[in-house]
Amino acid sequence: MMKTFYVTTPIYYANTVPHLGHLYSTIVADCMRRYKRQRGYETYFLTGTDEHGINIERAAERKGVTPREHVDFVSGEMKRMFSDFALDTEHGGFDIFMRTTEPFHYEGVSELWRRCARSQTPKGREAIYKGHYEGWFCAACAAYKTEDEYIRPEAEGDAPRCLVHETPLDRISEESYFFRLSDYDGALLALYETRPDFVRPEARLNEVKSFVRGGLQDLSISRLKTSVSWGIPVPDDPAHTMFVWFDALSNYITAIGFGNEERERVVGFEKFWPAVHIIGKDILRQHAIYWPAFLMAAGLEVPHHIIAHGMWLDPVGRKMSKTIGNTVELELLHKHFQTDAVRYFCLREMAFGQDSKVGYEAVIERSNSDLASGLGNLSSRTLTMIQRYCEGVVPAQNISDEKFLTAKRAGIEIDPLALVSTLEHARDQFTALMDDLAFSRALEAAWSIVARVDKMISDAKPWELAKNDEQRENLNAILYRAVESLRWLCVLLFPVMPESTREILRQLGLADDPAQIDPAKLTWGELKEGTRIGEIKPLFPRLDKKKIMADIEKEKGESEIAGTHVTEADAVQGSAITSETQPAPPQAGATEADAAAALKKEDEGAQFIDIGDFAKVDLRVGEILTAERVPKSDKLLRFTIDLGEAEPRQILAGIAEHYEPEKLIGRKVVVVANLKPRKLRGLESQGMVCAASVGDEGRPVLATFTEDVPNGARLK
Ligand code: MSP
Repeated sequence: MMKTFYVTTPIYYANTVPHLGHLYSTIVADCMRRYKRQRGYETYFLTGTDEHGINIERAAERKGVTPREHVDFVSGEMKRMFSDFALDTEHGGFDIFMRTTEPFHYEGVSELWRRCARSQTPKGREAIYKGHYEGWFCAACAAYKTEDEYIRPEAEGDAPRCLVHETPLDRISEESYFFRLSDYDGALLALYETRPDFVRPEARLNEVKSFVRGGLQDLSISRLKTSVSWGIPVPDDPAHTMFVWFDALSNYITAIGFGNEERERVVGFEKFWPAVHIIGKDILRQHAIYWPAFLMAAGLEVPHHIIAHGMWLDPVGRKMSKTIGNTVELELLHKHFQTDAVRYFCLREMAFGQDSKVGYEAVIERSNSDLASGLGNLSSRTLTMIQRYCEGVVPAQNISDEKFLTAKRAGIEIDPLALVSTLEHARDQFTALMDDLAFSRALEAAWSIVARVDKMISDAKPWELAKNDEQRENLNAILYRAVESLRWLCVLLFPVMPESTREILRQLGLADDPAQIDPAKLTWGELKEGTRIGEIKPLFPRLDKKKIMADIEKEKGESEIAGTHVTEADAVQGSAITSETQPAPPQAGATEADAAAALKKEDEGAQFIDIGDFAKVDLRVGEILTAERVPKSDKLLRFTIDLGEAEPRQILAGIAEHYEPEKLIGRKVVVVANLKPRKLRGLESQGMVCAASVGDEGRPVLATFTEDVPNGARLK
């Protein structure tokens, strides 16, 4: 029987339109599945949306639409993004776009609940029991918060606020079903001990272990229907709605047939379970603790692995946030970059498991250095030389001893053994690293082939050899080696860049489908002499950084006003909080102008702001480290200011006519830290210094402190 491989992404909250975090998890899963398929596995790949819960119910209510209409809209956006980035079924991507509002999911999750309810914990007690819950709940996190997870209220009677979202928590005091998680600590710790690769990377496993060792509390797994109606009813007690994480995690098994015969026939729980779950480290606890405990209670196998990746941060290392305006917009990525360049960037740039910085400039730079000058250039120069010197036909690789020696004496490197052993070594390294999820290092190994072959060409100078008939054999041998290496690269790189590698193979004149070739079995010399190469087309054109950055600067945020993005949550990426002030999404038939008009109307109506609006302005104490005039500007000063972050910020201020820069060094000032960065005289200003505007001429007077305050302290 064929080996199977089942990979999943998290199912994404259907309350925020897609962002880079969603794209990344999905690219990783897509790449792994393509790789495993090449290695001979029968694969299944799931992604989708998580569509229930109070947060979604509230978002829909605010927009005046039903929860169903709301989730249909957001999941539609998600699918559109997946298709833009070739991650959908049509492009060989996911097999199912799972939605928790599917009727078969209701059936499956109810079956899971029933099984848990019938079972006993390892300590011989009922796994699910009815009790009473009293505590604070964050709708955006879909989680109850303990004292160390919230900000205490300033005034009596106010609710505490979520540490992540800074929004008020809901006080909940109601009857609830509980899952007896506290009885599973021993079983979970034994699981982590016996299967040290259950959670990867290791650092994440250690976090999980220490959390469990600290003691687990039972988990409230239902809400009264009168409090949360948008969810799946608890079996045999419809006055309760299931906790959204119980519902969401179960999708991984209901999608493939657990609790539904039809799905079992079409896909097969028996066949594909257990899965490999790709998640962001932000949702590790739910996947590595709750999920295996639910499965153990139901008597089902736990997942093969929980693989947690890091977070994308902005170029200066901050969390990406709509409020700060430092997100990477998918519309712009799609518009300005090839899909494969984005995939390559994501997998090459982030050392798997660690956080990584991202900005448009970095994507341009990687694309130019590694793709345009690297792989793309190797492909086009090799094929062009075959066209020019070999009449478009792959030449013979063999070389007589005599020619080999002459070449060697002339310093031309065509020792087949040396090249093949370099390639074989890189191939083995590549597959081992892919198996180990070290995508970035696997790509480095592949690029060692690019460098090696480039060097061989530059040293041998085929254009010189072509001038001398005596050197024909050497010329052929060099070009064969280059083009056969290119074929290897296409097979290795297919999971990362499916479209471009297929295109290179087409240009090479091969009809082979790289999706079906096992990279571990690549054998030297399988490319046949006499193969006629196809039409040569440029692959990765060089990107004009200046122009693209100028365009992006103009286009940034535009997509948010256009119809489809109006519902975008004012969210910290990855935490899916919905802003209270969001305007309604366009209804069916509404135009972009209607949507923009709705935004404008909201602005006009806003005479007062509430505390939530004020909380959006991130005012911080900063210390001026350096200050200087901006050349050719009378007004601007350029500062570097320490806001208590990893790196100081560059901030520009129009106060040069009123302050001597040197005198400001060491001054503590008030900085708007989450102002969208903008360029002034070609310099990016990453925030704003606050000043009073005095007199008719508006003389600026810098706001400062008379007491000592630490850098980065927040003004509230
Ligand atoms: N609905 C839950 C998951 C349920 S799975 C049974 C959820 N959804 S989410 O929309 O918030 O998406 C979470 C996932 O998006 C994270 O786990 C992570 O994979 C990804 N990311 C969100 N922001 C991210 C970054 N800034 N960087 C990288 N990935 C991050 O949680």
